[in-house]
Amino acid sequence: MSFEDILSNALDQVTDSNVRDAMRYSLMAGGKRIRPALMYETVMGYGCDPALADHFASALEMIHTYSLIHDDLPAMDNDDLRRGLPTCHKKFDEATAILAGDALLTYAFREAAKTEAPAEAVLEGIRILADMAGPDGMVLGQCLDLAEERGETGWEDLKKVQKYKTGCLLSAPLMIGAVLSGHPEESEAWHEVGDLIGLAFQVQDDVLDATKTAQELGKSNSDERNQKVTAVTLFGIEGAERLMNDLYDKSCEKIRNFAGFDAEKIIVILKGIQTRSK
Ligand code: IPE
Ligand code: IPE
Ligand code: MG
Ligand code: MG
Ligand code: MG
Repeated sequence: MSFEDILSNALDQVTDSNVRDAMRYSLMAGGKRIRPALMYETVMGYGCDPALADHFASALEMIHTYSLIHDDLPAMDNDDLRRGLPTCHKKFDEATAILAGDALLTYAFREAAKTEAPAEAVLEGIRILADMAGPDGMVLGQCLDLAEERGETGWEDLKKVQKYKTGCLLSAPLMIGAVLSGHPEESEAWHEVGDLIGLAFQVQDDVLDATKTAQELGKSNSDERNQKVTAVTLFGIEGAERLMNDLYDKSCEKIRNFAGFDAEKIIVILKGIQTRSK
């Protein structure tokens, strides 16, 4: 079954309502599915059956999609376009978009709990998911993001914002992949890799926001309108691109250091992300 079918089937079990329509609208709008891909590649790199990751990969994509729905709200980035479609609050309304985000977040944990693996591994996966998504993770990053100010926020501050708002949800698939594969002792080392990938990914997101049209990106590019501090405002486009390439190279180097892990396929995925145009 394709990952899109796995996601869609999970939603089929939700009670029919306006909120379910909004969940489906945003979840099935066709994101790049980078986080699930990283989880599947981690599990396979350890020689396990990728199906082991189906429920956690779905859960993570639900949480990521909720973060985007809320990120686009008028109280946050106030954007109109996401994944090539009007944002959730534009298609429905603000209250429904807030509820769709709440619903995706909570439903994600129900989904993850379906995983057929030793209970200890499932519990640890759920703990990681909660840590990486919550007030010590992505939510903290979004909170810090709101407080940044041009002329005041420097690279050390911005690195912290990006590590939390983006890095945490990119560390989660690597860490959970290691735990489900029976390697919980390597989860912290994967966390460090995820931090690097997250930084690279967000620096690249900042470059794309400054260099592409909304139509090309399939999402509003609002950093300038919102006066955001970004890698581009700090280093310029070329400086940010150099930094990004350096961070991706460092991530690959670190992945090659895991003994007993077949790194080649996850590195191919990362190279694809490094050269993405949206
Ligand atoms: C966008 O993430 C939000 C950031 C962390 C920069 P993605 O670029 O992975 O978005 P989708 O899932 O493909 O829409
Ligand atoms: C948001 O960063 C990261 C999230 C936690 C959603 P951005 O605000 O830069 O993401 P985009 O550019 O809207 O996708
Ligand atoms: Mg934002
Ligand atoms: Mg945004
Ligand atoms: Mg952005």
